[in-house]
Amino acid sequence: MSPNNGYAPGLEGVVAAETELSHVDGLKGELIIAGFPLARLAANATFEETVFLLWNGRLPTQPELANLKQALAALRPLPPATLNLLREAAEARTTPMDALRMAAATLDLGLDTTDHQTTAKTIVARVATIVASYHRLRQGAEPIAPDPALGHAANFLTMLTGEPPSDARVRGLETYLNTVVDHSLNASTFAARVIVATQTDLVSAIVGAIGALKGPLHGGAPGPALETVFEIGTADRAETVLQAKLDAGERLMGFGHRVYKVRDPRAEVLGAAAEQMFLADGDMGLYELAKSVEATAVRLLAKHKPGRNLQTNVEFYTALLLHGLGLPTDLFTPTFAVGRTAGWLAHCFEQMKYGRLIRPQSRYTGVMDREWTPLAKR
Ligand code: COA
Repeated sequence: MSPNNGYAPGLEGVVAAETELSHVDGLKGELIIAGFPLARLAANATFEETVFLLWNGRLPTQPELANLKQALAALRPLPPATLNLLREAAEARTTPMDALRMAAATLDLGLDTTDHQTTAKTIVARVATIVASYHRLRQGAEPIAPDPALGHAANFLTMLTGEPPSDARVRGLETYLNTVVDHSLNASTFAARVIVATQTDLVSAIVGAIGALKGPLHGGAPGPALETVFEIGTADRAETVLQAKLDAGERLMGFGHRVYKVRDPRAEVLGAAAEQMFLADGDMGLYELAKSVEATAVRLLAKHKPGRNLQTNVEFYTALLLHGLGLPTDLFTPTFAVGRTAGWLAHCFEQMKYGRLIRPQSRYTGVMDREWTPLAKR
């Protein structure tokens, strides 16, 4: 028994699941997705290949991939009830993450949720449709119909903008979605596993996971990293602005990580993806500025917290890449969910196979043996 009598606040250090889906080594700066080092998978796979990999433990053959793509494409259109809900959410100026959480709860309307495979495909297909449709509706525009001829990433971008995206942009988004698809037992994934372990349905697990992801301590804060880059404006101001923030006791957004004590491997992969995308189809001035801000920030942080090794984290390049794709900052977290949904579902399948209810214990710290006081005497 630990000195704390078995209690681990935040479950820190507790191993609460075994998984074949992903492995994070924070000291080595390693992320393995279903056996692949992240860099090898993320920049090569289409999102559908990654979905198949996580759900089946191996890469698909050509016919298997074609089948999955076709199935996902056919499931994209939203039921009218979901669209109506999104219209009302847009009128009420609901945030995109709240709209996604509300709409996701309607996804099993008319669906046989005992068919787990179809339910999972429906969720993956429609989470992307919800995010893109809601973005249009809140701008006062009609949603764009999904195009079954396009892959998941290309269709998502087309539904957001109404324009066919360049190959460079599709590749940029595919790499992003693959990069964030899974990250061991993070809060939203754990939430999904806890929910599905009660033998409830997959939609319930995904709604809970979206709710967990929405919080600023999890997926809710990639915007500020880019705001600092904009605030700096030109590379020659980076040192003055960043040093002033540190002197004022502020944290530099996009740097430092609870688990990674070296550079976050996702920053490496997304940095390379951003460079390729900006080179082919983007504002290289902004990319160069971000690189220079990053270098200055890492240098200043080394002086500010010697020995802490505060490095660039996933949020910094997420912000740069998604901004380069034309997404506003409040779509960053919903787009994270578009990728992570496939990982949540893979964990749900694993949990369902394992089949054990997740039921930890609590330590009672309240009083005992109270006397009952009748209402009239209180
Ligand atoms: N800028 C300035 N100082 C930072 C810092 C940052 N980005 N990240 C950590 N530090 C400092 C802390 O102030 C702390 O100093 P102290 O020991 O004097 O109190 C020290 O480094 C260790 O920080 P700690 O809070 O223990 O690190 P953590 O592992 O708990 O926190 C984060 C990790 C991500 C919460 C933290 O690095 C952070 O706030 N980063 C900025 C926000 C961000 O980018 N979030 C997205 C994360 S993916």
